[in-house]
Amino acid sequence: MAAKPKVFVSRIIPDAGLDRIKEHCNADIWPDPLPPSRDVLRARLADCEGLVSLLTDRIDGELLDAAPQLRVVSNFAVGFNNIDVPAATTRGIAVGNTPGVLTDATADMAFCLLITAARRVVAGHQYSLSGEWKTWEPLGHLGQDLFGRTLGVIGMGRIGYALARRCRLGWDMPVLYHDVYKSEKAEKDLGAKSVDLDTLLRESDFVSVHTDLNDKTRGMFNAAAFKQMKRTAVFINTARGPLVDQRALHDALKSGTIFAAGLDVTDPEPPLPDDPLLRLPNVVIAPHIASATVGTRNAMAEICAGNLLAGLRGEKLPHPVNPEVDTTRRKG
Ligand code: GLV
Repeated sequence: MAAKPKVFVSRIIPDAGLDRIKEHCNADIWPDPLPPSRDVLRARLADCEGLVSLLTDRIDGELLDAAPQLRVVSNFAVGFNNIDVPAATTRGIAVGNTPGVLTDATADMAFCLLITAARRVVAGHQYSLSGEWKTWEPLGHLGQDLFGRTLGVIGMGRIGYALARRCRLGWDMPVLYHDVYKSEKAEKDLGAKSVDLDTLLRESDFVSVHTDLNDKTRGMFNAAAFKQMKRTAVFINTARGPLVDQRALHDALKSGTIFAAGLDVTDPEPPLPDDPLLRLPNVVIAPHIASATVGTRNAMAEICAGNLLAGLRGEKLPHPVNPEVDTTRRKG
């Protein structure tokens, strides 16, 4: 019987995927809650054919060179900005991700942050606990209405569409979007209107980001962008922290340039303890948990295992990031 392929799994993922990986591979599973250091990763990968990585693991050419037998990297995430995909492709290493299954959970979190920030729920909660609550206040805790207000979506992919659908069908919001691709589906189903970025920032009451992090989008939400937004606007980011110039966001929130923000992602993660953003009353920050439901994480684990095992067996990955890598040339 052929030896099972050696793989490194950089964190404990749900049994829904881990059990299959353990069954079919000689799996070295990193047991700590914190990520392995780069040196550990390099050492553990030396004789591995497969890797299950997380978005906290930086996988670049230098690391891949230290793993000469590596054939497949299966990222336990839909985003893959932690991986230098061209570096993997030139080395013939297949990369997989977990799209689709986290769309609804992430759109739910974007909406949760939107309503929480707009209605000042976290500041209200802290006020209730503090003992300062003395009476019902006609002018206290005033937030922003949602119903019929305009949603602006940057990046009308699966998650952007799912948020727009919630807002359009549930809260009767007109939807503007900005994307390099036209979304026939959003236009047809939701009456969404494609606009340039400036128009979206100027006209939206809620601005929600759902775009990839790459060299073009890094830092796109800067002081100039916040300045274009309405003073009543709420800014939502469930995509990636570095899309935002965090200092500029802080200044916009503090000066009242925008009303509030709801973030599931920051730069860095976690934010530095002395980041002044953490002390503002009009920002809600979740610890990158948009996909953190039992069902979603189980589904991600299943896809992640499926990608890993397919790559090791010399089959096409069910969810490839670089399908140009022909995994079938090397039958496992
Ligand atoms: C989470 O951020 C993911 O990309 O899956």
